[in-house]
Amino acid sequence: MRTAIAHTLGCDVPIFAFSHCRDVVVEVTKAGGFGVLGASTFAPELLEQELRWIDEHVAGRPYGVDVLIPSSYDREAEQVGDPERLIPGAHLAFMEAILADAGVPPLPDDDRRRVHREIVEGRGNMTPDGARRLLKVALRHSQVKLVVSALGAPPPDVVAELRQAGVMIGALCGKAAHAVRQRAAGVQLIIAQGTEAGGHTGDISTLVLVPQVVEVCPDLPVLAAGGITRGSQIAAALAMGAQGVWCGTIWLGTRESELTPFEKNVLFATRAEDTVRSRVRTGKPVRMVRSRMSEAWEKPDAPGYLPTPLQGILYNEIHARIVRSERRDLYSFPVGQSVTSVNEETSVREVMMRLQTEYLDAMERMANLGAGA
Ligand SMILES: Cc1cc2nc3c(=O)[nH]c(=O)nc-3n(C[C@H](O)[C@H](O)[C@H](O)COP(=O)(O)O)c2cc1C
Repeated sequence: MRTAIAHTLGCDVPIFAFSHCRDVVVEVTKAGGFGVLGASTFAPELLEQELRWIDEHVAGRPYGVDVLIPSSYDREAEQVGDPERLIPGAHLAFMEAILADAGVPPLPDDDRRRVHREIVEGRGNMTPDGARRLLKVALRHSQVKLVVSALGAPPPDVVAELRQAGVMIGALCGKAAHAVRQRAAGVQLIIAQGTEAGGHTGDISTLVLVPQVVEVCPDLPVLAAGGITRGSQIAAALAMGAQGVWCGTIWLGTRESELTPFEKNVLFATRAEDTVRSRVRTGKPVRMVRSRMSEAWEKPDAPGYLPTPLQGILYNEIHARIVRSERRDLYSFPVGQSVTSVNEETSVREVMMRLQTEYLDAMERMANLGAGA
C-alpha cells in the first residue's frame, strides 16, 4: 500500500485523515497514516496552539493543514473586523424563532463568549484573506508538509508562498473540470471527493469521479474521498488509479474525536439515507445529518441563505445551543453517507488497523477470483 505519494510525504500508508480534532490528527499520524487538521474554524491564535500541540505529539512525523479558500464569498465580510454585524435581523429572527418554538434556551454568557472567540472569529476565516492568516501560522511549523484547500483553486500568491516553503499543495475537487483548473493553478495533489462525502460536496459520486480525475490529471497523484470506511474501498480506489484515500466521517465516532457523547450517539444511529446536502451551515452545499433545522430552511418562508462566511457565522451559535441542549431533532452536523458504518466508539488506532487488514483481505480475494474456475 505504500504508494508514491506516501513515499513523497513520508507516511507509511496512504490513508489521509481529515479532522478538525488535533487528537485524531496525531493518532492517525502516529499509526502510519497522514493526519490533516481542518483549520478553517480556528482563529489564528488558536491554530497556533493546536499546531504546537501536534508538533509535540507526532514524534517528528509530517502532517497537513486544510483551509477553505472559496472562489465565491462575501467580500464585505472579508474586510470588516466583526462580520457578525453584517447578518441581517430577519435571518437572526428566523433562527431564533425555530429555537424558541422548540424550547432551546440561549447559551450562558461564558459559553457565548467562548463560541464567539473560538468559532465565530474562526468562521470569519472562510475567505481567501482568512485562509492567508491561517497559512501564515501553518508555515511557522516545519512538520506541516501538506496544505490542502477546498472550495476553489488556491490563488497565485498562496501557491507561490507554499512552493517557496517546500510545502506540497493539495486541493479537493468535486468535478474533473475543477481538477483541471487546480492543476493549472499549481496544485500538486488532487483529492477527488464524491457527493457521498461529509462536508462541502458536489453531486458526482466517488466511483464516477475518481477515474475521471485520474484521466484528466495523469501526471498528478490523486486521492479518493467520499464514502470510504473499509479496506476493500481502499483497494478499489487504488484500482481506479488513485494513490490513496482521504477520509473524514470515519474518525467522528472514535474515542479521540471532538464530538460529545450526545453527538456520537446521534451519528451511531444515523444511516446513509438520513443525510442531506444543505446550505444551512455555510451557505454552500454541505452533506450533513438531516434535521428539523435543515428542513426549516428548505421551506418557502425561510430567508435565503447568506453568502459564505456569513451563513456559517449565523449557524454557529445556533449549533452550540442545539448541542448544549442535546436536541437530536434539530442536530445537523457534517457527515457522509458512510455514517451508516459508524456504529460504535472505537479508537483511531483500531480503525487504522482494521482498514489495513481489510485491504489485505480484499487484495487476496481479488488474487483468488479465478481460483477453481
Ligand atoms: C465534520 C466534517 C467537516 C469537514 N470540514 C471540511 C473542511 O473544513 N475542509 C475540507 O477541505 N473538507 C472538509 N470536510 C470534508 C473532508 O475533507 C473529506 O473530504 C470527507 O469527509 C470525505 O468523505 P467521508 O466523509 O465520506 O469520509 C469535512 C468533513 C466532515 C465529515
